[in-house]
This record gives sequence, structure tokens and C-alpha cells, in this order.
Amino acid sequence: MSPRVWLVTGANSGLGLALVEHALAQGDQVIAAIRNPASIPDSIKAAKPLTLDLNASDSDIQRAGKAALDIYGRIDVLVNNAGYCLTGYVEEVQDADIKHEFQTNFFGAISLTQSLLPAFRSQRSGYILNLSSVAGIDGHPPFAMYNASKAALEAMTEALHTELLPFNVTALIIEPGYFPTNFWSSADASRIPPARLTGAYPETDSLFNTMPKKKLEEKQVGDRRKAVARIFELVSGTGHYAQQSVNTKFVRVVLGPDAGTRIRSKLKLILENVDGTEEVWRSTNMDEETLEKYARGEY
Ligand SMILES: NC(=O)c1ccc[n+]([C@@H]2O[C@H](COP(=O)([O-])OP(=O)(O)OC[C@H]3O[C@@H](n4cnc5c(N)ncnc54)[C@H](OP(=O)(O)O)[C@@H]3O)[C@@H](O)[C@H]2O)c1
Repeated sequence: MSPRVWLVTGANSGLGLALVEHALAQGDQVIAAIRNPASIPDSIKAAKPLTLDLNASDSDIQRAGKAALDIYGRIDVLVNNAGYCLTGYVEEVQDADIKHEFQTNFFGAISLTQSLLPAFRSQRSGYILNLSSVAGIDGHPPFAMYNASKAALEAMTEALHTELLPFNVTALIIEPGYFPTNFWSSADASRIPPARLTGAYPETDSLFNTMPKKKLEEKQVGDRRKAVARIFELVSGTGHYAQQSVNTKFVRVVLGPDAGTRIRSKLKLILENVDGTEEVWRSTNMDEETLEKYARGEY
């Protein structure tokens, strides 16, 4: 099937830009959603631009989704890629900043997806790819709100995946590890201003200097061109995905050995947690007598 029509948010930078460049190079058609039309890079001039700010109102986002649909009459692959990382300890982050983070990473993606779901259902094909992060499963400080927004996106996508299976539409969670993009500089810029810092958590500042350096030392640095090639192969059933029979229950696309390793350790920890407390969680069911009362509506 070719050419596919992609709608990619956050198309002017990082993973989104690399994906648009790759899809165009493969002969697909792309609608590049960006919040500032002036920032569309020359390398994706062949894409159709769509102005979209995920912090706009729900109705504005839905209108943009419908406008995108009108461009080619269909969308085959929606990539909810745009996002950023709010940095700050739970005690210190401000309410408005938390809401902004969730609006961009979670609510905005939902509004856009909702505007396209009727079309996806009626065409009975397509992909919805939601960019989460390894942080959605294994989050660290001082990124609690970023972690939470991605965890929310993951939980929503898991249910969406099941909802859409009967319609032959595949909703997936894309879970990258560390890929150098503008992500870290924007995370740095989002840091709470010093005036709001309590000084109770002195570790924050060093992180931005040490993280990319640490990743380089560990040789755990992702190549965004390879990441987007894997995403393209997944959708087109080519390359690394050509011979794989992907279980339809698989909902996660893990990208990067750092992400895969961290997720494995986290799952091991969760399993140890559940196994280690089995006596506790097995102790909370109703006994026979209470169960009978419950059945009679007397509980
Ligand atoms: N890079 C990594 O290591 C990494 C790891 C895990 C997950 N991710 C996820 O991958 C996705 C892409 O990030 P990236 O690494 O490519 O970072 P990036 O280079 O900073 O790109 C982020 C994109 O999101 C856009 N964006 C931010 N807020 C927006 C809003 N309110 N409305 C519309 N667009 C908005 C940005 O637009 P502007 O240019 O206008 O700001 C930019 O195009 C994100 O969801 C991120 O959480 C990245």
C-alpha cells in the first residue's frame, strides 16, 4: 500500500522531523503538524504543513485534526510525537506548569486522536503511534510530571489498542530511551526558576551536565535516524519487522538498548514486589460469610 498518509505532530524537530524526512524519502505523503509555521525546515518542504499547538483549546485541536483529514481525504498513520519534559521536584513544580505539561503530552494528543477516530474506524486500517518514553514505565526524579504524563498516555493507549483491534486499527506506544534531540535543552529550559527553588533538592542542577555525558560514556546514545527507520518498518511491515510475527497483544515498541534494559529491570522489580507480598494481597478477599451478605446486597 503506497503512498501512505502520515500526520506527525512536533514535525519540526528531533524524532518527529527525522520521521517526516524518512517517510517522505520512502515516497509517502506527510502532513507535518507544527506550532509555528515559520519553523518548518527546508528538508520537509514536500510535506503539507498544519499549524497545531497542543496547548490550544480542545475544539481548536479537533478542528486541526479535521483539516488534516481534508488534505488527502484520509490519514493512515497518526503519530502523536510532540511533547516536552517539565523538570522539577514534586514539591516545587507549579500547578500551571503541571497542567501545561499534561495538556501537551496527554490531553492534546487525546483531542487530536478523537478527531480522527471515526475516520480510522470507517477506513478499517491504520496506525496510531503515541510517543511515550521509557520514563512512562521507569521514571526518575526530577521529572515526576513528565513521567506521569507519559504513564497516562501509556495507560490510555493500552485501552485504545484493545478498542481498535476489531477495526483493524493498531494503536501502539513508542517507548524510546535516550536520543539526542532538542529534548534535553527544552527540559533544561523548563526548569523551575531559581526563585521558586526551596534548595531542599540540590541534585537537580547537576543532572543536565551529567546525563548526556554519562550516556556518551556508557555508549548508550540512540541514533534518531535508526529509530524512525524502525517505526517506518513497523508500519510498512518491512526491514526488521518483515519476518517478525508481532503478537497483536504487543502494544509497546521499545527503541534503544537503554530503554529495553531499564524496562526489563523495572518489570523484574515489579514481579519481586508482587511475589514478595503475596501473603498480603491474598489476604483481602471477602470470606464466605461476607460474600453471602454481599450477594444479598447487605454488605
Ligand atoms: N529524545 C529523547 O531522548 C526522547 C526519549 C523518550 C521520549 N521522547 C519523546 O519523543 C517525542 C519527541 O521528542 P524529541 O526528542 O524529538 O524532542 P524535541 O526535539 O524537543 O521535539 C519536540 C517537538 O514537540 C513540539 N512541541 C512541544 N510542545 C508543543 C505544543 N504545545 N504543541 C505542539 N508541538 C509541541 C516541539 O515544537 P517546538 O519546536 O515548537 O517547541 C518539537 O517539534 C516527545 O514526545 C518526547 O517526550 C524523546
